[in-house]
Amino acid sequence: MSVSLFVSLKINLGQHSYPIHIQDYLLDQPNFLDLIPAANYICVVTSESVSKLYLPKLQIFFELGHKNNNKKIISVILPDGESAKNWDSLNQIFTALLSAAMPRNTLLIALGGGVIGDITGLAASLYQRGIPYIQIPTTLLAQVDSSIGGKTAINHSLGKNMIGSFYQPKMVLIDVQTLKTLPDREYYAGLAEVIKYGLIADANFFEFLEKNKEKILARDPEILIQIIQRSCEIKGHIVEIDEKETGIRAYLNLGHTYGHAIETLTDYKVFLHGEAVSMGMVLAIEKSIEIFKLDPVVLTRTRDLLKFFKLPAEIPENLLDCLAPEKMQIAMGRDKKNLEGKIRLILLKNLGEAAVY
Ligand SMILES: NC(=O)c1ccc[n+]([C@@H]2O[C@H](COP(=O)([O-])OP(=O)(O)OC[C@H]3O[C@@H](n4cnc5c(N)ncnc54)[C@H](O)[C@@H]3O)[C@@H](O)[C@H]2O)c1
Ligand SMILES: [Zn+2]
Repeated sequence: MSVSLFVSLKINLGQHSYPIHIQDYLLDQPNFLDLIPAANYICVVTSESVSKLYLPKLQIFFELGHKNNNKKIISVILPDGESAKNWDSLNQIFTALLSAAMPRNTLLIALGGGVIGDITGLAASLYQRGIPYIQIPTTLLAQVDSSIGGKTAINHSLGKNMIGSFYQPKMVLIDVQTLKTLPDREYYAGLAEVIKYGLIADANFFEFLEKNKEKILARDPEILIQIIQRSCEIKGHIVEIDEKETGIRAYLNLGHTYGHAIETLTDYKVFLHGEAVSMGMVLAIEKSIEIFKLDPVVLTRTRDLLKFFKLPAEIPENLLDCLAPEKMQIAMGRDKKNLEGKIRLILLKNLGEAAVY
């Protein structure tokens, strides 16, 4: 991988194709307004803590644009966290758009983590039967995962991500400087998904992560750009082949069937998603050794890397009862990704090669 401070890649989905630009200090570039699609009506959707950190940066550009082009710009600030991923937030966006008489050619901008990206994408797919949106993801998880692939959603009291659509953004803009303010735990949780990409699709990338682990932990911008670029390429490639998740997109669920069971059994209160996936990947690799005779070295290497990134590599002792194998089995049986009543697991045949079991 070559070192560069500005990287662009494209997600090829026919007429829904879009670029991803990754840059250090992207939100401080004087030409920022030239990067985003031209629009006279803009609505930025963000969350409380992100708005304090990064909304003023966008506002400077918008003030400029406003003076030059008579742009109309509004913003919607939602509460932080997963609990905001609901109808109320969605409605808050629609109310803001309608009160300001924002027309069909309004551009929505999602500025924040995966929660903001998912809600904004859904709002964009519904407002006046669909308006354009772009993503400016500010968590590592959103930069390497949720901003790619066009899945949008809110939660229902009876199930997570149960109300949603497939709706691709027009563009994704990633400023790795935003990761400097991300709380440690959120950062490490995002790294679990990065490791996942190496495991399912690219042994060389896994090795790259091992070799550069100190720099990754230190959030070195050059290394961040490289790992985000490769992660976006891997997820993008899988989504290009299987946009609506009928086949290999399921590989992205390595560790997730176990992880979702861990999240459900602990009531979503103990672990971040990436932490649950971290333990789930270890369980999936153990199963892969049993079923596909995967080289046990992959387990040792994965555990070492997860632990280095301060991620849990086994179920903590105080949760052994709560997460006992029988309970895990029942919870996994309810996973929405199962087919015809059978638990569908993503396992590894080799490092960098996933398979459905
Ligand atoms: N659409 C998809 O394909 C997809 C894929 C994976 C996950 N998701 C969804 O993503 C969500 C999780 O996303 P997440 O992990 O980004 O969590 P999040 O959006 O809740 O963000 C985590 C926290 O960090 C704060 N934050 C965000 N950026 C920050 C920054 N730069 N500095 C300081 N604080 C910052 C947020 O306000 C929030 O409190 C879940 O709802 C999940 O379902 C969607
Ligand atoms: Zn995940």
